[in-house]
Amino acid sequence: MCGIVGYLGPLKAAPVLLNELKCLEYRGYDSAGVAVIENGRLSVMKAAGKLSNLEALLADKKPSANVGIGHTRWATHGIPNDQNAHPHTDSTGTIAVVHNGIIENYEELREELKGLGYAFNSDTDTEVVAHLVSHEYKVDKDLLKAITRSVKRLVGIFALGVVSQEHPDRIYAINHHYSLSVGLGNDENFLASDSMAVRQYTNRVIKLEQSEIAEITAAKVRLFTFDGVEVKRSPIALDTSPYVIDKCGYKHFLLKEIHEQPLVLRQTLSKYLRHPNHPIDLTIDHLTPAGSQSANYGVHLTDEEIKGLTRINIFACGTAYHASMVGKLLIEELVGIPVDVDIASEIRGRRLLCNESTLAIAVSQSGETADTLAALTEAKKKGAYTLGITNRADSHLAQLTQNLIVTECGIEVSVAATKTYLAQLACFYLLAIYLGERRGTLTPERAKELKIKLNLVPAMIEQILARDEVIRETSVKYAEAQDVVFIGRGLNFPTALEGALKLKELSYIHASGYAAGELKHGPIAVLDQNVPVITVLVPGLVYEKTLSNAQEARARKAKMIAVAVDGDEQAQRTFDSVLTIPPVDELFSPMTTVVPLQLLSYFISDYLGKDVDQPRNLAKSVTVE
Ligand code: G6P
Repeated sequence: MCGIVGYLGPLKAAPVLLNELKCLEYRGYDSAGVAVIENGRLSVMKAAGKLSNLEALLADKKPSANVGIGHTRWATHGIPNDQNAHPHTDSTGTIAVVHNGIIENYEELREELKGLGYAFNSDTDTEVVAHLVSHEYKVDKDLLKAITRSVKRLVGIFALGVVSQEHPDRIYAINHHYSLSVGLGNDENFLASDSMAVRQYTNRVIKLEQSEIAEITAAKVRLFTFDGVEVKRSPIALDTSPYVIDKCGYKHFLLKEIHEQPLVLRQTLSKYLRHPNHPIDLTIDHLTPAGSQSANYGVHLTDEEIKGLTRINIFACGTAYHASMVGKLLIEELVGIPVDVDIASEIRGRRLLCNESTLAIAVSQSGETADTLAALTEAKKKGAYTLGITNRADSHLAQLTQNLIVTECGIEVSVAATKTYLAQLACFYLLAIYLGERRGTLTPERAKELKIKLNLVPAMIEQILARDEVIRETSVKYAEAQDVVFIGRGLNFPTALEGALKLKELSYIHASGYAAGELKHGPIAVLDQNVPVITVLVPGLVYEKTLSNAQEARARKAKMIAVAVDGDEQAQRTFDSVLTIPPVDELFSPMTTVVPLQLLSYFISDYLGKDVDQPRNLAKSVTVE
């Protein structure tokens, strides 16, 4: 979603801003812009569409300014066009603002400012901020005070960057329940809503906390609360593990990330699972990156607290929600604690039954999903223990929780989540075994068997990836479909949902996932010879019933595709196409069955010529509710 960047120092600001913005591209956006102060004048350049449009504009204008802010916008208020792109300026054209989040009371403020004679040029909520700051600035010509008075009037969650022609030596950054980092250089400083963007220049950052304003000059960073009180904070060191934003020879990031899954799993598993004979250790403080503020790394619940848990609530969105659905089944099966899993946005306005004996788990690749953070905050207020599962140790979620499991994926660039899904699943297997060991619901023998099987999964995924050419050939046969139905049962019902989500996201083909048993309760009405039905079929407790449900679809002449294990002759007889996987224990199958479905969606998307890594309308990090 939207991204904020900034720079001031000896370098030309525009190329730096562009480099920073490029790092935020993966988050999703539909327009981009910069504001720089050159020879005492504020100049704004912005363009709808890809960053390459802005790049062309900057190549043409060649600004040589040393200070500026930039933005990638994901449209919320107003369509994605040049006019609505950020930065927005005040009526005098001397103050420019970039903004992430939503100003909930913008209509009221807009009317008030219009009444005072301010004219608006866009449909955005952001523009009110530019006029408000400008209006307040007239009072005492003190920009910091003007910004402070202004932001105190804003309702919502937001991050802002502000520059003014009258103060060309500084950038103001404002954080209110959002995320902003100042990257510290030598006589230069950087600003970014995602620290990834400053990492190419420095790994020393100061993260703004809630309701804070940073006054950034090339030499200094000062922090203030919204009440004007100055606060001191030491910089933290960013994780030094290499985040390679490079396709490494793959045609798309998505394909590279699908192929990284065995490695990612091995890294996540080896971090917590030393040896099958040893209990799983989720308290791994010693791996905390030097200097970071991650005192909450790992799970720090005492035996007594773990034994006292009466309920677990999991909150997540999108792909992370599907991983959480698998997590619920695993924990209930192996630990025997009742688990609720909710789409995080559904918690709003609802009576959430959490208390001091509840463990609330928020799962989010980015750690910035607004709905997930809001749900977790609600559970926290009710006294629940909190645990975050995220790929970003420096995220908002990581700061919010008492316990933290960080997936070892490196940066996931493609908007559609793949490797982080697998890593989230791995975390749930680890967590379920860990809780089972600590609560005594697993015998040491059973726990050992589970750990041995878990360690076999990366090699199975490698075998599936080696079959990608067969999967490609099969996939494109179904690429012209208008509607696709995915079915699965038990642990693979979430796989069916995730398979359908991947296909929708990547190819724009309408796809729905159903619990296989539900097919006959409605969805079967849409089936005919034009609708492919993809069945996730793994030997185990629900094999026969799933197969029966597939037969119901076959009887309606649907095109039949299965994900099934090697040597499943019944599957070979029943389905038109079978995407095979190595034999797998049903309990661990969600980690392997999803892989052919990821590849299927990838190949269809590529075949159809879609924007694989940045599908239309989607954002990687969804920071609005
Ligand atoms: C967006 C992305 C999805 C992702 C979801 C949750 O919608 O497009 O791929 O699954 O957000 O994101 P999170 O960062 O919380 O896992």
